Amino acid sequence: MSLQWHDFPSKDELDAALAAKIALDLNAAIAARGVASIAVSGGRTPAGLFKALSEQDVAWDKVVATLVDERWVPVEHADSNERTVRQNLLVGAASAIRFVSPVSSAATPHEGEAEIEARFAKIPAPFDVLILGMGDDGHTASLFPAASELEHACAATSRVAAVTPPVAPHKRITLTLPTIAQAREVIVHITGEGKKSLLQTAMTEHKAVTEQYPIRRVLDAVASNKHVFWTA
Ligand code: 6PG
Repeated sequence: MSLQWHDFPSKDELDAALAAKIALDLNAAIAARGVASIAVSGGRTPAGLFKALSEQDVAWDKVVATLVDERWVPVEHADSNERTVRQNLLVGAASAIRFVSPVSSAATPHEGEAEIEARFAKIPAPFDVLILGMGDDGHTASLFPAASELEHACAATSRVAAVTPPVAPHKRITLTLPTIAQAREVIVHITGEGKKSLLQTAMTEHKAVTEQYPIRRVLDAVASNKHVFWTA
C-alpha cells in the first residue's frame, strides 16, 4: 500500500479533516467489532487535533486509547504526553474514553516495562488507528536513531520497549515497530516545510541510505493504509 499524502492550507483545516477521518475510522471499528482502539502521538503537534477529535460524534465509551510513546515522567510533568492527552482529548463526551496510561511509578521505563506490557496486552489489537509524529532526526514514536535499544524496539514481538534517547530529554517507553506496523491504519501527522522535506527524502532515497531514519523503517513495514497529514 502506497503512502497517501494529504496537504492542508492551515493547521485548523488539517486538524478538522483528520479529526473527522479518525472519527469515521473509530465508528466503523465499533460497528464491526463493538470496540475501537487508537494510539495517538506525543509531542506538541497533536494538541489541536486532540481538541477537534474530542468534539466528534463517536461512541467514546467503546474506545480504548493510549500513546505511541511517552516520556518517563509523572503525568503532571510539563513534558508528559499523557498530560497533553488528558487536557485536550479526554474532555467533554470524550472523557468516556478508556485511556491506558503508558507510565507507572517505576523509577525507569526499563524497570516498568513488564507492567506496561501487561497493561497493553489488554488493549484490543491491532490498533484501528495509530497516529505518529516525527522528529527532525527522522525518529517516530520513541524509535530514535542511534538509541542503544533501537534494534530491539524495531524487532521485538513485545508491544512496548524502553528506550534511552541519545539526545532528547527523558527516558522513554515506546510501542515497538512491529506493533505499530500491524495497525489497521497509520497516519503520520507533521507540520512545517522541514519535516515534509525530511520525510520525502527518507521515503525516496535508496533504502540503505535511509536506514538511519526510523520513520522509513516503520512506514516500509506498514502493510495497511498509511497516510501523511501535513500543513506548512
Ligand atoms: C515525543 C513523541 C515524538 C514526537 C516527535 C514530534 O514524545 O516526543 O512522541 O515522536 O511525535 O518528536 O514532536 P513535535 O510534535 O513536538 O514536533
